[in-house]
Amino acid sequence: MRIVFVASEVFPFAKTGGLADVCGTLPLELERLGHEVSIIMPGYRCTDGRHQPFNAHAGVTTIGKDLKVYFLRHPGFYDRSELYGDAAGDYPDNIDRFAFLCHETLRFLKGLGTPVDIIHCHDWQTGLIPALLKENYAGDPFFARTRSILTIHNLAYQGVFPKEDMSRLGIDGKLFNPGALEFYEKINFLKGGIVFADHITAVSPQYAREIQTREWGCGLEGVIRQNKERLAGILNGLDYMHWDPSTDIFLDPPYTDGGLQAKAIHKGKLQQALRLPVVDDIPVFGFVGRLCYQKGLDLLESAFDDLMKRPLQAVFMGVGEEKYQKLLVKLAKKYSQQCGAIIRYDESFSHMVYAGSDFFLMPSIYEPCGLTQMISLRYGTIPLVTAVGGLADTVTDFSREEARGNGFIMSAHSVEGLLEAVDRALGVFSRQELFNGLRIHAMACRWTWESSARHYIECYEKCLRSA
Ligand code: ADP
Ligand code: GLC
Repeated sequence: MRIVFVASEVFPFAKTGGLADVCGTLPLELERLGHEVSIIMPGYRCTDGRHQPFNAHAGVTTIGKDLKVYFLRHPGFYDRSELYGDAAGDYPDNIDRFAFLCHETLRFLKGLGTPVDIIHCHDWQTGLIPALLKENYAGDPFFARTRSILTIHNLAYQGVFPKEDMSRLGIDGKLFNPGALEFYEKINFLKGGIVFADHITAVSPQYAREIQTREWGCGLEGVIRQNKERLAGILNGLDYMHWDPSTDIFLDPPYTDGGLQAKAIHKGKLQQALRLPVVDDIPVFGFVGRLCYQKGLDLLESAFDDLMKRPLQAVFMGVGEEKYQKLLVKLAKKYSQQCGAIIRYDESFSHMVYAGSDFFLMPSIYEPCGLTQMISLRYGTIPLVTAVGGLADTVTDFSREEARGNGFIMSAHSVEGLLEAVDRALGVFSRQELFNGLRIHAMACRWTWESSARHYIECYEKCLRSA
């Protein structure tokens, strides 16, 4: 099959979160399984120097065996310090920036001259592509056999714009109707993607179920339920080549399952870097993530005074909303002997947090899949999570099922639920042999991309059968 990925972020070129990890790894796995894959993404300022000129409209580089990554040029739209917005909020012209990505992708593919089987779109930024294929390119023989698939990584971000902007989309205004791009009098890119894509996926089976409910559907649950015949939940994998403590270039020394004493060295380095007391018998609870509502930081704030009464240290690393950045700095100042905060995006330091922590805090309010719990497990760092989305699909409670358990699940998303899980974690930490056994089991857990990629291939084939 000839498959094209279109995404607004792809690791290692541009990344704010897990979307980039997925779009940088799944295509490589599909190529490994014998498919012809390419990627199209915006040519941002941060991708400058990562590609060679291809034509007047794009740059190109090759990854994997022969996987081309195309960077669409538009200096006015993409030559900026951030991907989506700055301290002042989302860039006001995001509608134009991502409508351009959608249009230009299809123009570019036509220009390449070789028809593709599957265009795999990711999140709202690419949500207009399925609509353009069915509207602007209906009857175009070049795309006659092309099918589109939309993966929902996060339903909370929908690309919502005022209806007055419809004329900026380069698509027939009649599509502003509730059966197409309109959602409660606004333009909604993601809804358009859901309605027009030939197939829809969500990034974990549990999330695929959750988004059909009123509680988690972010208003789109009705639309999703109407289209559920075309919906599948496919769990993300992890790139176990990149996330491997035994070969990690950011870790000195590296460590393996049998050599967990090396983990203590990283814990000491992490404590030192954050000016925390360097002690091994007090567990470090780490956090790495985008600082936003989703990640449960409000709950951590409510529970923090109680948490700090316990024998533990907390290390936070992240960037995001100003109020959460300020909150973490405040907590680190108030509890300087027990809490540290690093407010920046830093690939290499994140590896230190995964390696140097004993537990990983992930009290997310919702979590479509979550990669950080998978990463921390690989590093022998035990996740403490809410049972939502992909967290429910990957973490099993150790207190309840020692043999299969790889983490601690909060009984409820509440201060009590969090503290109760922390106390159970502390109990296991104090029993060294038991804790080491848990770590070794955690490090052996695997969610490979090969298995997920095979599911995607089944979806692609299903779409093509209807071609
Ligand atoms: P989300 O996509 O919701 O942000 P995921 O758990 O799927 O959450 O993926 C987050 C990814 O972003 C992981 O690879 C994580 O290591 C990375 N990440 C998040 N914040 C930072 C940061 N401040 N510095 C480095 N990496 C980060
Ligand atoms: C989103 C979700 C996260 C998921 C990632 C990759 O950003 O918040 O849970 O792991 O996409 O699919």
